Amino acid sequence: MVALISPEHAKFPPHPRIKLGVMASGSGSNFEAIAQSIQDGHLNAEVQVVIYNNPGAKVVDRANRFDVPAVLLNHREFASREDLDRAIVETLKQHSVEWVIMAGWMRIVTPVLIEAFRDRILNIHPSLLPSFKGNRAVEQALEAGVKITGCTVHLVVPEVDSGEIIIQAAVPVLVDDTVEILQGRIHEQEHRIYPSAIAIAAIHATTDDNGHQS
Ligand code: GAR
Repeated sequence: MVALISPEHAKFPPHPRIKLGVMASGSGSNFEAIAQSIQDGHLNAEVQVVIYNNPGAKVVDRANRFDVPAVLLNHREFASREDLDRAIVETLKQHSVEWVIMAGWMRIVTPVLIEAFRDRILNIHPSLLPSFKGNRAVEQALEAGVKITGCTVHLVVPEVDSGEIIIQAAVPVLVDDTVEILQGRIHEQEHRIYPSAIAIAAIHATTDDNGHQS
């Protein structure tokens, strides 16, 4: 069982090197934060592959800069969500991926992927879940008039944005905030917590009830 851990306690516990596969639809700034954390010697991991679904996505440039192979799986070319997820699973396995990191992946995933990497898929969402699930989370927070929002890293389960929470960070909503400004402040926190969340999730997954690592 993974505990809810505040960012202040988010350290990088020692753990075996983790092989990651990142799924991204757009800019990929979270991919970059993870790759940078690895390069800086904080997160003990390797990104084996980036899978993206939108031709021209900026994440490809970032992947190239970090020498990570980027594979396009364009959802428009698949007959169903399940067919796309089967291709994703095949690509992840070809690259020996152990943990799947959804970093701005804007497609709903199916049990085909979730079962293939059971309890080993993480997602980041730009709100303090369970508030503001689904699309336009930052807009939803502004429309609701909340004074604090944030971001959440959680395990992926079939119900959207609903798996066990690994880490959250709170972000204040300021009077003059636009979606872009607030999104920028949330991004800063996302980049801070995602690498730690990966380490924490991995260590919990390999620790038995007596606290021993397998
Ligand atoms: C991030 O803010 C992430 O929380 C959000 O997409 C952005 C991707 O940014 N994800 C979702 O909304 C998922 N429902 P990035 O491409 O720069 O990492």
